[in-house]
Amino acid sequence: MDNPHQRLIVVSNRLPIVVSQEEDQWQIKPGSGGLVTALSPVLKQHRGLWIGWPGSGDEAPLDELFDRFSDEQQYQLHGVTLSDEEVEKYYLGFSNKTLWPLFHDLLGHCHFNEENWPCYGAVNRRFAEAIAEVSTPDDFIWVHDYQLALVGSHLRDLGIRQSLAFFLHIPFPAPDLFRRLPWKTELLRGLLDYDLIGFQTLRDRRNFVNSVLAFVPETEVLSRQRYFTLLRYNGRTLKIGHFPISIDFAQFDAAARSPEVTDAAWYLHEHLGGRQLVLGIDRLDYTKGIPERFLAFERALEKYPEIRTNLSLIQVVVPSRIDVAEYQQLKDELEGMAGRINGRFAEPGWVPIHYLYRSLDPVQLFAYYRTSEIALVTPLRDGMNLVAKEYCACSIERKGVLILSEFAGAADRLGKGALLVNPYDIEGTADAIFQAYSMAHEERLRRMGMLRAEIRRNNVYRWVGWFLAETGPHEEPQDYLA
Ligand code: UDP
Ligand code: G6P
Repeated sequence: MDNPHQRLIVVSNRLPIVVSQEEDQWQIKPGSGGLVTALSPVLKQHRGLWIGWPGSGDEAPLDELFDRFSDEQQYQLHGVTLSDEEVEKYYLGFSNKTLWPLFHDLLGHCHFNEENWPCYGAVNRRFAEAIAEVSTPDDFIWVHDYQLALVGSHLRDLGIRQSLAFFLHIPFPAPDLFRRLPWKTELLRGLLDYDLIGFQTLRDRRNFVNSVLAFVPETEVLSRQRYFTLLRYNGRTLKIGHFPISIDFAQFDAAARSPEVTDAAWYLHEHLGGRQLVLGIDRLDYTKGIPERFLAFERALEKYPEIRTNLSLIQVVVPSRIDVAEYQQLKDELEGMAGRINGRFAEPGWVPIHYLYRSLDPVQLFAYYRTSEIALVTPLRDGMNLVAKEYCACSIERKGVLILSEFAGAADRLGKGALLVNPYDIEGTADAIFQAYSMAHEERLRRMGMLRAEIRRNNVYRWVGWFLAETGPHEEPQDYLA
């Protein structure tokens, strides 16, 4: 996308907004995710448009709020509404009970419901129709994430001919796992109608290419390069790349240095008795490995008694997808575990686990990041995990130790500075907690320095730049490697 006059259309399941009502006045604000931060400048520069589901709050005067938003933010919004049945079958059902667990290697959590698949297709069709209605042939269209894998293919049916790009924010599973999906071929063929498909890591890209070769055998590999593979399918060439997403390092670093955060960070440590803090921050999700993390912390308390009263785990769980039964069960499980471990180990003036089930306001979030000596980021599987990167960007004194799951996409580039763990290995994670607790100041500085340098350099603006740089016409390779 090298033409500055070309308009950018971003499409995602959710619009990047927070709509609220304060004293009878409706408010609209940009959401807080990394994607919004990364894409806002590009959207402004390219007179952009973001298409997505406004989420709940159907009673809000959305048209008026969208107009106000576009005046303030200099890009436009277009809403695709979902009926209750669509929320049930497309969003909670196929997206979050089938694709989400399957793509995170958690087959045991998958539901394969015949009724949800057609609804997923129909909602993807409605997104495509919304795009077709508002776009022109000169626009650049960039679709995001697993909820919208078939939008490109429906756009082709609707006669849209321009180049189409897709980025998958979550992992792509190995072919042996992916083959469990009853609609695997239809899903892959749908994806192959995009021209550029981006994944988070080389492993995801390889898994996708190998699945395509296994289940869509007429596809041909034209070339394999370091950052992308060129495929030939249906007379077209498409590019499959990997582009690890990141954060706005400078923004987190500056926020962590602000006076409000400095005060809040000081207060947190004072309030918690000056002991070391281990931090976990996750959306409520069974992919995040929170029960395993609690067990590892419990094991560390058993095995290394010197950490008792000197270390506390602060676990923040942000409510999410609570209408999916597994999420509700996880919430109950976590409350039970925190209560049990605290009951077992608490002493007057010291509680091992501080469990918060809510979202944090930004000052609190930055203060926890800045002040915690250890971060425990131990998902069973994760596309990237931005919390790991945000923690490092806010660790401005460089005293923080990152304990990171080897199954997070972030481990590819942060593996040297972090302590890598297998989250299923409770004993190994307990040992890593103790290693982090007892790590010398110089080693903390050295490791965190490396982590921060990596994230500062490979920030989210670079990610957008890499991706958009690959959207030009494909050069036909000379070296055909099968
Ligand atoms: N986050 C948030 N509210 C909170 C705590 C965290 O919005 O109270 C943000 C956090 O800053 C991060 C995102 O939630 O940007 C989580 O992203 P991540 O990639 O770690 O996991 P995901 O939730 O996308 O699976
Ligand atoms: C992950 C997914 C996103 C999703 C987000 C929040 O980051 O990759 O696509 O928007 O979780 O989940 P939700 O279901 O609330 O949109």
